[in-house]
Amino acid sequence: MRKRLIVSAASALSLLLAVPASATDFRPGADGVGDPYYPTFGNGGYSVSHYDIRLKYQPATDELEGTTTILATATQDLSRFNLDFVLNVSEVLVNGRPATFATSGDQELEITPARPLAKGSQATVVVRYKDVPSTVERYDGYTAWRRTPDGAVAAGEPVSAGWWFPSNDHPSDKATFDVSVQVPNGTQVISNGVLTGTSSQAGWTRYSWRENKPQATYLTTLAIGKFDITQDTTVGGIPVYNAYSKDLGDNAAAARASVERTGELVDWLSGYFGEYPFSSVGGYVPNIDSGGALETQTRVRYGPGAFSDGSNTSVVVHELAHQWYGDSVSLNRWSDIWLNEGFAEYTQFLWSEHENEGTAQELVDYLYAARPASDPFWSVKPGDPGADHQFAAAVYYRGAMAIQALRNAVGDEKFFRILKGWPTERRYGNGTIQDFQAYAEKVSGQKLGDLLNTWLFTPGKPAVGPVAPGAAVAAPLVAGQAQAQLPTEPKSWKKIQEATAVHESRR
Ligand code: TRP
Ligand code: ZN
Repeated sequence: MRKRLIVSAASALSLLLAVPASATDFRPGADGVGDPYYPTFGNGGYSVSHYDIRLKYQPATDELEGTTTILATATQDLSRFNLDFVLNVSEVLVNGRPATFATSGDQELEITPARPLAKGSQATVVVRYKDVPSTVERYDGYTAWRRTPDGAVAAGEPVSAGWWFPSNDHPSDKATFDVSVQVPNGTQVISNGVLTGTSSQAGWTRYSWRENKPQATYLTTLAIGKFDITQDTTVGGIPVYNAYSKDLGDNAAAARASVERTGELVDWLSGYFGEYPFSSVGGYVPNIDSGGALETQTRVRYGPGAFSDGSNTSVVVHELAHQWYGDSVSLNRWSDIWLNEGFAEYTQFLWSEHENEGTAQELVDYLYAARPASDPFWSVKPGDPGADHQFAAAVYYRGAMAIQALRNAVGDEKFFRILKGWPTERRYGNGTIQDFQAYAEKVSGQKLGDLLNTWLFTPGKPAVGPVAPGAAVAAPLVAGQAQAQLPTEPKSWKKIQEATAVHESRR
């Protein structure tokens, strides 16, 4: 009996294996990568290696038209697959053959290729489109495409790509980029990486930009308008390219006095984080009514409002720190936003230390004391803030406190090894908070679960602040006792707060 059972199981198995893959194995790719905060962001079933974006833009009418070519590899047998896009599409080709397409949801473009795609095969997807992007609203009135008096700007987090190119719109799928845009003569185009060339023909000028290192879709940016350009090289040899709208008014000098420090600051940051990961650096300041700054790869977008109270190197340090923490090493899921914002914020504290305007410990002591336990600030968990609080103050400030707590627990020598080692080990890749914890535990030889749990994953004000080693812990307040005296405000606090408020305002 026993023996017969084994034989029949084995023959059943061989039968199964003999069945050829049938057409029914080809399934549609998922309409999202499974992000816990944004289930429909990105798509399943393929991964992208390169985007080639060729556009023509007319500032007078806000008409954008062009073609994006996507090089992808199927990661499952695909009967159809989605791209994320909001503009009006006229034609889609997959491997040279016309494909049928339909739209659904906020930004799903469903593509059915003439021939299904086998797992592991390469696909070249060509999407042709034309639209007026500023008129396209999604997610309750949001548009990532903003017109300016002389052009337009596309930038936004967690989504912005869909307003100017179709993509697998999630940081877990990074790719290289060519961005080439034709604009009327006299207008300029700014994007990521290196300007590889310009050419003029019949009243139009084409600008071609290239980013040859993996780049997340939300870190891809486009600015069109009239700019003053500055170009230089860092002491470390990296080309710097900055652009300032010609129309910044009163903010122009402060913007330049801040953003022109980019080269110096990149070299300074390399001391903490290791070699700068990209082959170009810089920023642009468009003429928009915003103070938001975004760490778009190699070419940071600064809203002019970031400089309305004078120069602010703190915001420049923050965005440049993201080039390592966020851009070179990217999130796998948006809930891990602390890996980006906590570290970029903490780097502002390091800059304050360097400038003798208050140590990180002094800033953290001040922050901890200044917010009573009843402040709703403490209800947000920086390690999992929720989509609605993804960029809440706690992600930045409590996130930075978590990093100071880590520094105090492992000591400076190991802390700075972790700070440099993580972006070095994960360069051009992705990581989660759990991966970071494992790495920090390996380097320090200490268990860090309790510490990170307290600072990142437990709502409420921790009973004890990230106290410096050897410092006296203040006795808990007794009911009726006067509020303990606030430590003196560190000199850098105003600019740090300005820079962070700017992040909260976002658009
Ligand atoms: N990541 C940005 C920063 O802290 C903040 C941000 C979030 C933002 N969403 C945005 C900036 C949208 C501009 C637009 O540096
Ligand atoms: Zn940031």
